[in-house]
Parts: sequence; structure tokens; C-alpha cells
Amino acid sequence: MSSTVLVGVQWGDEGKGKIIDVLTEKSDLVVRFQGGNNAGHTVEIGNDKFVLHVVPSGIFRPKAKCIVGNGVVVDPIVLMEEIKKLQARNIEFEGRLEISTRCHLILKYHSLMDGLKEQQSNPERKIGTTKRGIGPAYADKASRRGIRALEMLDTGRFEKRFKEEAAFYNTIFAGCNCELVNVDEEWIKLLEAAKFLTPYIKDTVLTINKASKENKSILFEGAQGMLLDVDYGTYPFVTSSNTTSGGACTGSGLSPKYIDNIVGVMKAYCTRVGEGPFPTELMGEEGERLRRLGREYGATTGRPRRCGWFDAVSARYSCMLNGVDTLAITKLDVLDQYDSLKVCVAYKVNGEMVTDMPSDTEDIAKSIPVYETYQGWHSSTTSATCFEELPDEAQKYLRKIAELVGADIGIISVGPNRSQTFKT
Ligand code: IMP
Repeated sequence: MSSTVLVGVQWGDEGKGKIIDVLTEKSDLVVRFQGGNNAGHTVEIGNDKFVLHVVPSGIFRPKAKCIVGNGVVVDPIVLMEEIKKLQARNIEFEGRLEISTRCHLILKYHSLMDGLKEQQSNPERKIGTTKRGIGPAYADKASRRGIRALEMLDTGRFEKRFKEEAAFYNTIFAGCNCELVNVDEEWIKLLEAAKFLTPYIKDTVLTINKASKENKSILFEGAQGMLLDVDYGTYPFVTSSNTTSGGACTGSGLSPKYIDNIVGVMKAYCTRVGEGPFPTELMGEEGERLRRLGREYGATTGRPRRCGWFDAVSARYSCMLNGVDTLAITKLDVLDQYDSLKVCVAYKVNGEMVTDMPSDTEDIAKSIPVYETYQGWHSSTTSATCFEELPDEAQKYLRKIAELVGADIGIISVGPNRSQTFKT
């Protein structure tokens, strides 16, 4: 049995939900460790399609227990609704979900503040957030005024804290002539959510460590991707958590010495939602074609994703940083119709050739991608069940990108369904 961390290698939306669903077949515990309902993990099982935002993707495996770890920021009303919707589709939660007592809550004033900051930003500084209140909730956590899930267990204490914080924020909103939190209306919704979520709120650090000691199989489910990591991504165009594998430990309470394996998920090309540099982005009709073929629209906000060629510079950096042992490459089938494919192998920055990801986002924005071109395969990969069944040119393309990023391919996905995935 082992502890595996699964992370996105690019800008999120790599198809992690699907790979997690496949890997959870044998998992005892599936743990979310960062982010919040900015994530949208899509899982297709037969004719059913589910989009999860906070609930771990292991929920579709009846034997797996799901944990929302302490590093996650939880909007209690959104989580309650998500659970109710899944229950209405016969997904069992009883004894199967735990929410960490230490999770920080996302409250109405956080999403209002998120919208306000975006609205007021100088257009060049606009991040294009999901407006779910993620950044302001993590900011409250770091500035030590956050409210944690454990406070929902005592509704008197929770009401006092919520009302104090809402009053604080309302003075700021009033000063900018902005929408205020309707405290009483919001409190009614929060009280319902607190009562609904109470049975699930536990000290998950103990659950996770006990499972690890008992040699159970644990899967840590990353959200977003390395290039959105608050420390290593294209700052400030990032999310507010550590999306990289190290975040699995701080966001769950399991020591790094118990992590055995890191799986990095990446698309066979690149996408990005929101603002910020994207060196291999395809504009105009070329970008539109890839978006259409890949059905590239955000699972959380429905926004069209920006699309581009595979970027080996950022992916190599990401695999190094995450310590990726195994690659899962998704959406290979999206490239089936191309005559030729480009892969970015270096950036030209201020006239110099660079093969490592620059730490200055302005340099990344200035980068001119240096491409190698590969022949396309012009045939369908959607029914392949093993590496050898893929067209020769597809095999070459995959081997090349794995070599460029310096990790071994373990899983390939050739379509949205659970069955269209195979191990190599
Ligand atoms: P936030 O996480 O809502 O603060 O948004 C910050 C940046 O991360 C924006 O560019 C978002 O589009 C991006 N982002 C956040 N969550 C996801 C995700 O799950 N997939 C892809 N991009 C995301």
C-alpha cells in the first residue's frame, strides 16, 4: 500500500478528476489538500457526467473514504449544496466524508472582496480569478482573522465570529460604495450549512495518520496546477495556495516521509484560464480550433480556455519541482486531426536562449517560444487500449514529450470516459 500525490503539471484543467477516478479504484482514502471551489474536477462514468468542486473525486468509489484536508478553504454553503446534489444522484456520504476541523471558511465577504479587487485592479494587474473568494479567504488565514470549520460546531461562537467579521468587511465595502453583506440573510444560510456539515467535521490529521500507519492506500488529490502555485507559478497570476506536491503534506498533516509516489498530470497540449503569460498560446483561428476540438471551457466558470502547443520548458520545471515519478498524459485524442504538432523546447528571452523557467513573470511574458515540429498521426486514438495500439507518430510524440520533461509515462487518456484510459 502506498501514499500517492497527484498534481497538475500545467495551469490546471489537466483532466486530474478523471485520472484520480481511475487511480482511486484501489484507494482507501482520497484527500484534497489545497484550493477550494475554484476547482472543477470532471468525472464521466458511463453516460453520467459529474463535476466536483470541493468533494474529493474518490466519492465515486464506494470503498474509498474522502477527506477535505486542512489546507482546503471551504465555502460551507457551496459544499452543502454540492453534497446534496450528489446525494440526489444516489452517491453515499454516510461515514465516507470528513472535513478537517482546521479548514478555513470562505464566507460571503470573501467572494465580494474577490470581485471588488478584480474590479479595481489596474487592467494589467487583473488576475481573472474565479471570484469564489479564494484569495481573500487565504489572506484572512495568513493574517490570522480567518474562521475555521471547527467553529461551526458551536453555532453561538460561529454566529459571533461571523457577525464580527462581516461588520469589519462591511465598513470597507461601505467606504467603496460597494454591495454589503446582508448579515442576517447570510447567517440563516450559514446556520443551515453548519448544521448540515457538523457530522462530517473531524480532526482529519488523526484519520490520515492512522490510515498511513495501517498501511492503507492514500491518494492526495491536487487541484489547479503547478503554474498557478502561489510560490512557484507565474506570480501574481496564480491562485493562493501551494498546488505543488509539497502542499500535500502541509495541507493534510501527513509527514513527507510517508509519501511514496508523485503522479504529474498534463495535457498533450496546454491551456490556461484567466490572465497571465502563456508563451505557447495560439491566437485567432488556430486557438479556436484547439479549443473546439478539446471542448476547452472552464468546468467552474464556463469561461473559454486559452489554448496552445505543449510547453516542455514549464512542464520540465514543474516535474522537477513536484518530483514527478509518473506522468499521466491526457487528451491525446484532441490532437488526432493535426498534420503536424509543435512542442516548445526553449524560450528566447531578451535575445537569449533559456531552457529553465524564468522566475520573473515579466520575462515569461516576453518569451518567444522555440519550437520543434513533429508529424501528426491523422487517425483516431480514442479506442486504443495500450501504448502499442497508438499510431507510430503518436507514440513518438509521447516519448518525445516525456523525454523533454524528464519523467516516465504511466497513464494515457484518449477520451473523456473512465474506460478510455490505460496504463503503459
Ligand atoms: P482564484 O483561484 O479564483 O483566485 O483564481 C486565480 C487564478 O487561478 C485565475 O487565473 C483562475 O482562472 C485560475 N484558476 C483557479 N482555479 C482553477 C482551476 O481549477 N483550473 C484552472 N484555473 C484555475
